[in-house]
Parts: sequence; structure tokens; C-alpha cells
Amino acid sequence: METIRLRKATIKDKAIVVDFDYNLDKVEHIELKREEKITKAIMDKECFIILANDSAVGFVLFDYRFFDLGWIELIIVEEKYRGKGIGGQAIDLICRHSKTNKVFTSTNSSNTQMQKALHKVGFSFAGKINGLDEGDPELFYFKTTDDSKTKH
Ligand SMILES: CC(C)(COP(=O)(O)OP(=O)(O)OC[C@H]1O[C@@H](n2cnc3c(N)ncnc32)[C@H](O)[C@@H]1OP(=O)(O)O)[C@@H](O)C(=O)NCCC(=O)NCCS
Repeated sequence: METIRLRKATIKDKAIVVDFDYNLDKVEHIELKREEKITKAIMDKECFIILANDSAVGFVLFDYRFFDLGWIELIIVEEKYRGKGIGGQAIDLICRHSKTNKVFTSTNSSNTQMQKALHKVGFSFAGKINGLDEGDPELFYFKTTDDSKTKH
């Protein structure tokens, strides 16, 4: 059983985070200038390294840009570590870290792996937006975390 932890990324982690993202989708990584986005997220303290038994296996970008609520912008677990519960646990940990009592995220309807991970850790379906990726609607999910936190 692996121990999953999150730690805030520093600029020293940039290369590994960029690598995780590049390996997921090389074309998107370049066309969408993801390296710039990752660098900014690290500088803004919005990037978290996912550690499994102290080894970096992925990352989460998390901020409050969605209606001032916790928002999981992106989560990537390196391919060989997927399907072992690491993504779900990382999502759960980021929800505990959130300052707000609700956390939202979204994923394509084709991404059943992300949807399963979200359902497992108690996220509910919030709605569907058409027109972002042609033929692959964006599904929004949310979780109410802790009622003592900042409410919206
Ligand atoms: C989405 C992601 C972060 C989930 O991480 P993970 O460590 O695989 O998550 P978990 O193991 O907690 O849960 C994944 C679930 O999907 C299932 N799964 C595994 N491979 C699958 C596949 N090819 N298709 C559908 N479901 C799959 C797993 O069995 C698991 O469900 P279960 O526990 O009910 O069996 C990871 O798959 C990933 O990095 N994907 C690429 C990047 C991405 O799509 N990010 C999300 C968009 S922001």
C-alpha cells in the first residue's frame, strides 16, 4: 500500500512537471504553451506534486479562479501508476487542503478514468457544457468538503 502525499511544487520541480504534461499530450503541450502555464502555477503556489512513497508520480494544478471556489484545473498521474487509487487519493487530499467548502473540476465525457476517480472520492455531477471540444462535452463535478470552511 503506497502512502500518498502532496507537496507544493517549487521551481526545482518544473522539469518533472513539464515532463508529466509533455508525455500526456505532446501536441497540446506545445500548442497551448503549457510550459508557461506550469511555470506560472508553480510561481503562484498552485502546483502540487503527488508523492507515492515519497516518489513524484504526478501533479495537481489547483486554484480559486472558478467563482472563488476550489478548482482542480488539472491532475496528471504518470501512466504506469494509474488505476491504483493514487489519483483519487490526490483529489481527496487537495479537497482537504481547499480553503472553501466546495471544490469543482471538469473533464471531457470521454475521460471515464477521471470520472471514476471523482465518483470514488465523493464528487457529484454538476452539469454539462457543449461546444468546448467538438463532440466531447465537458462534464463538471463538485464536492462539498467541510462545512466549517469558507462558504459560497
Ligand atoms: C485521471 C487520472 C488523474 C486518475 O488517476 P488514477 O490514479 O488512475 O485514479 P484512480 O486509480 O484513483 O481511479 C481511476 C479509476 O479509473 C479506472 N480505470 C483505469 N484505467 C481505465 C481506463 N482505461 N478506462 C476507464 N477507467 C479506467 C480505475 O480502475 C479506477 O476506477 P476503480 O477504482 O473503480 O477501479 C489519471 O488517469 C490521469 O492522469 N489521466 C491522464 C490525465 C487526465 O486525464 N487528467 C484528468 C483531466 S484534468
